Amino acid sequence: MDEPAGDDLGLLVRGVLDYAIFMLDPTGRVVSWNAGAERIKGYRAEEIIGQHFSVFYPPEEIAARKPERELETALIDGRLEDEGWRLRKDGTRFWANVVITALFDDAGNHRGFGKVTRDMTERRTAEQALRESEERFRLLVQDVVDYGIFMLDPGGRIVSWNAGAQRIKGYRAEEIIGQHFSVFYPPEEIAARKPERELETALIDGRLEDEGWRLRKDGTRFWANVVITALFDDAGNHRGFGKVTRDMTERRTAERALVQRSRLVGHLVDAQEVERRRIAWDVHDDSIQSMVAVGMRLQLLADRLPEEHREGLYTLDESVRAAVGRLRTLVSRLRPPDLDRHGLVIALAGHLEEVLPGWGLEYTLRHDLTAEPTSEAAVTGYRICQEALTNVHKHARAARVEVSLSTVDRGTLFRVTDDGVGTAVTGTDPGRDHFGLIEMRERAESAHGWWSMSSRPGEGTSVEFWLPSAPDEQR
Ligand SMILES: Nc1ncnc2c1ncn2[C@@H]1O[C@H](COP(=O)(O)OP(=O)(O)OP(=O)(O)O)[C@@H](O)[C@H]1O
Ligand SMILES: [Mg+2]
Repeated sequence: MDEPAGDDLGLLVRGVLDYAIFMLDPTGRVVSWNAGAERIKGYRAEEIIGQHFSVFYPPEEIAARKPERELETALIDGRLEDEGWRLRKDGTRFWANVVITALFDDAGNHRGFGKVTRDMTERRTAEQALRESEERFRLLVQDVVDYGIFMLDPGGRIVSWNAGAQRIKGYRAEEIIGQHFSVFYPPEEIAARKPERELETALIDGRLEDEGWRLRKDGTRFWANVVITALFDDAGNHRGFGKVTRDMTERRTAERALVQRSRLVGHLVDAQEVERRRIAWDVHDDSIQSMVAVGMRLQLLADRLPEEHREGLYTLDESVRAAVGRLRTLVSRLRPPDLDRHGLVIALAGHLEEVLPGWGLEYTLRHDLTAEPTSEAAVTGYRICQEALTNVHKHARAARVEVSLSTVDRGTLFRVTDDGVGTAVTGTDPGRDHFGLIEMRERAESAHGWWSMSSRPGEGTSVEFWLPSAPDEQR
């Protein structure tokens, strides 16, 4: 039963291609050779059998007596494993994993050595490439300053720290490594078990993103954007967490300032409109009514007075009438009554007819509105058109202006285009003391629409803006 098994084993060893498997006599000479040895080292059996195995070693290893020392160690310990450069027949080197086993017969006599060699060059190259890329990656992470990037062990203790983390949180690596990451959380969050809950969630969902206040080493707070990722090794074991933190304090402050500013502007614009309307009503219901009554009294009085005084009263009545007329104009400037009564297009047409001929401007008003803008959008649109037209009058030296309104995207698109001299000023960068453009843009934006002005010197100017019909839906 033993013999066939021995033959089988011989066949197996001779045929194996992935390993060089061969025997040395006690002095280190090659006594057997397999297919794998031929493939890896390049010698055929008849070329190598009888030679000393040190031919496989590079000169520097031979000089250091490495082949002999390996055999001595194998003889003492029974076995030796080594990795290192070896030579092929053609003189090229390969990275070898070598196991040398001392062989004894049943009587305990030393019969030689078994040697199994594996060509690890490819694996070594791959491993080295991986190590290098990991190293490069590590350096990259290490030096990034915009993000705090660090690792936690599964229990939440910090195991690595980068330059960004030091910059943002103020701790040096040696101060913080080993500490629990909850030191970054304010007391109220710790009391609410937030750090633990974040790790739990990251572990279940794989990832967690959060924004909130965190503490620096000096106790000051910063607004952080945090992403925690659960990390697993190839075998699926949980190895800890990666944590990427970004300091968003400045951005948050800027965003809030912007929101507050546009809220304030929106509020001012609204307040202005409300105040104008109130004054318009007061003037209309009180001043104008009283003056009309005065006028009627003057008439009655005049009829009863002798001829010589009548003329004086008529003159008085005339000036009262003229004052009433001026007040009516004031009222309609403050709050165009057509806007409430007849809608935007008629109010605008009225305004164009009233002012443009006096400015020597020809005009057209086009509209294809399929939906009437809301009354807020109508007031806003009317006011922006007013300012755009005033600018045409003040700055454009134009002959014609075209105003157009159309229903677009559940809102109204307005365009005021002149054929004047144009300008290099843009809506985003108006001059210091000019508020017309800013006010137009703010009005449109606080109504949740947009505004833009396009112009080239010499080519006329076009102001375009869009206002949604239902502001809240657009948010
Ligand atoms: N239609 C236009 N044609 C040519 N230039 C224009 C036109 N509209 C605006 N501008 C230029 O843009 C500048 C800024 O306009 P803006 O309305 O902000 O200020 P303003 O009209 O000078 O002053 P105000 O604050 O009284 O409106 C104007 O001074 C002018 O140079
Ligand atoms: Mg202006």
